[in-house]
Amino acid sequence: RNVQTFNQRPGIARPLRAARMESVSVKPVKVGICGLGTVGGGTFNVLKRNAEEIARRAGRGIEVAQIAARRPNPKCDTSGAAITADVFALVNNPEIDIVIELIGGYTVAREVVMQAIENGKHVVTANKALIAVHGHEIFARAREKGVIVAFEAAVAGGIPVIKAIREGLSANRINWLAGIINGTGNFILSEMRDKGRAFEDVLKEAQALGYAEADPTFDVEGIDAAHKLTILASIAFGIPLQFDKAYTEGITQLTSADVAYAEALGYRIKHLGVARRTDKGIELRVHPTLIPADRLIANVNGVMNAVMVNGDAAGSTLYYGAGAGMEPTASSVVADLVDVVRAMTTDPENRVPHLAFQADALSDHPILPISECESAYYLRVQAKDRPGVLAQVASILSARGINIESVMQKEADEQDGLVPMILLTHRVAEQRMDDALAALEVLDDVAGPVMRIRVEHLN
Ligand code: HSE
Repeated sequence: RNVQTFNQRPGIARPLRAARMESVSVKPVKVGICGLGTVGGGTFNVLKRNAEEIARRAGRGIEVAQIAARRPNPKCDTSGAAITADVFALVNNPEIDIVIELIGGYTVAREVVMQAIENGKHVVTANKALIAVHGHEIFARAREKGVIVAFEAAVAGGIPVIKAIREGLSANRINWLAGIINGTGNFILSEMRDKGRAFEDVLKEAQALGYAEADPTFDVEGIDAAHKLTILASIAFGIPLQFDKAYTEGITQLTSADVAYAEALGYRIKHLGVARRTDKGIELRVHPTLIPADRLIANVNGVMNAVMVNGDAAGSTLYYGAGAGMEPTASSVVADLVDVVRAMTTDPENRVPHLAFQADALSDHPILPISECESAYYLRVQAKDRPGVLAQVASILSARGINIESVMQKEADEQDGLVPMILLTHRVAEQRMDDALAALEVLDDVAGPVMRIRVEHLN
């Protein structure tokens, strides 16, 4: 009876529905795609294939009015589309309402985004480097011009993690987040571990699949992950973007022996980005990390990404999905487009802030240098096979208040006669561990540098 009454009320249900139906048939929003590579091609294809459903969600059709590309993408049927090689012709095209920047890098992409904003156009970008390094300049100008700059695709490919933290968790004081946020690196580590493949060989495959950055050292040295972590930390804690203060360590020094020893101790090694709020400041660090093998995130393999977020109200939540690739990343680009289309007619003052917190309410809680960050450690000491070495190692650690959790000693290597001694420690400040390693490395019975990998239990 209630439903009937509601439907019969003039002025509520019918006009609303009618208005919505009409709005789908209003003039489509015109967008321009800058860059027709992996993500640009995926965006074009998804917009074309799902045009009708996307229009039903957005309330208006979305029409690709122009594409700026230096070369065609064989995976896209762009026949009939207006294509230009001059990206600024697109940005200055008065017909275009929203510019989608999928060029990448800090140079042309920055000019494209700034010019689009000057021209009063909204922007959707997948460019984490640009947002992490120049975000404040971009957002400040966007606020002045009353336009939106949306960047869901910049972090973790197809996972809507920006939206989850910025909107879904907005009740929470976020304590920490930790993520596998580089698909290429995770693909390399997974293939090396599961199939014993060589690093270079897997990297080449990641490049062929369109996962890797134009400069793949960004992937394997943790720079790409640090860009993404910078963005996540900013929207989680309401702090400015501070990429220059992120600690970054890559995966190129990892050995298959360490991967195997970690397994024997019940851990997996993952390339993790960690952002943690402490009383002294915010930890912002990317490095290889041992994670207990029974954590869900330890079992995230291949190009998949996952981000764990711990908030005071929600507790720990986990977001999982493809972190790179043509259509997963396009999924986030198109979701941003739909958001922009829905918000275009709203008052700019009342939109979701770019970095989750109001721009004039960012906190100056400092980013901690790595020496002041705290974690547990995995150490591999290459020791001479003599009595008393383990006692010396233990004494150096204990003199610095470093508590040993477990010790594993392997048989001597047939070639060099050295004994790998693997230790797990309790949590300690990095500075104290640096002192201990310096003391260990000068011992006569210790050969070469000590391998140190941080351990996070994520509980
Ligand atoms: N090179 C990035 C990765 C692409 O491998 O995760 C997605 O940002």
